[in-house]
Amino acid sequence: MKGIILAGGLGTRLHPITLATSKQLIPVYDKPMIYYSLSTLMLAGIREILLISAPQDISSFEALLGDGSHLGISINYAIQPEPEGLAQAFLVGEAFIGKDPCALILGDNLFFGNELQQILRNSVSKIKGATVFTYPVNDPERYGVIEFDSSNFAVSIEEKPSKPKSNFAITGLYFYENSVIDIAKSITPSERGQLEITSINQIYLSQGLLNAQSFGRGMAWFDTGTHEALLEASQFVRTLQKRQGLMISAVEEIAWKNGWISDSELEMQGNKLANTEYGKYLLTIIQNR
Ligand code: DAU
Repeated sequence: MKGIILAGGLGTRLHPITLATSKQLIPVYDKPMIYYSLSTLMLAGIREILLISAPQDISSFEALLGDGSHLGISINYAIQPEPEGLAQAFLVGEAFIGKDPCALILGDNLFFGNELQQILRNSVSKIKGATVFTYPVNDPERYGVIEFDSSNFAVSIEEKPSKPKSNFAITGLYFYENSVIDIAKSITPSERGQLEITSINQIYLSQGLLNAQSFGRGMAWFDTGTHEALLEASQFVRTLQKRQGLMISAVEEIAWKNGWISDSELEMQGNKLANTEYGKYLLTIIQNR
């Protein structure tokens, strides 16, 4: 399976922080925001990744992540000229996806939980139609919202409804069969002028091919699109890391645990950052292996 990280947009809700830099490059506690979405794809076992961003930001992502070889993965880059909707990822990424199934993750989403890796790997191995992940929230009107019937079958999906039919948000992580490219080509812009990911999901739902997997109480999901959400996500990461001494979304650690880079490669990455907590952490996990 291929993976796309969508990391464009204008970040207007985070101005003035994002006036001169990409939202997905600002920190969530001690790492650039993009590390969290990248690590989720890596936990799913995805090694071929396309990062899509705005023309003015793409070179900064390249400077940060390079070709991905230091993580044992390949990272390609593509430009989204204007933020015309999440579904555009499949049009910009058509050549990259080729004939494969594809995951999409929004570069401002952060997932954390004990069973995350298992859930992701199961979904990748059983991909049929579309898989979305749902999460109970207090403010569903901010999200794509999914409604279930009494037998727990998904019956409707709406984008930012003023009167949500449930409190289950659809998170910014999606797995699709290759048919997503043709479906993305078939949809038209919404009232707010965007090619909505929700329109794609509605089509899979109408075809009986939408699998809604729930992330329950044991999972954390943050969409870091506002100052408040950004601070909450940072506090969450800080609290857990401080308590456990284990880092969240240290991408080199995940690459190493996946067997994609060797001990000496991990050590090299740690040494490059040896005067930071992050670098020291990478060196410690090698010593404690
Ligand atoms: O986070 C989950 C939610 O993400 C879903 O529940 C919604 O169904 C989905 O539409 C989306 O809602 P948002 O309001 O968060 O979408 P937003 O326009 O903020 O875009 C999400 C991220 O994607 C943001 O970091 C900017 C980036 N983006 C957005 C657009 C529209 C792009 O890179 N290109 C784009 O064209």
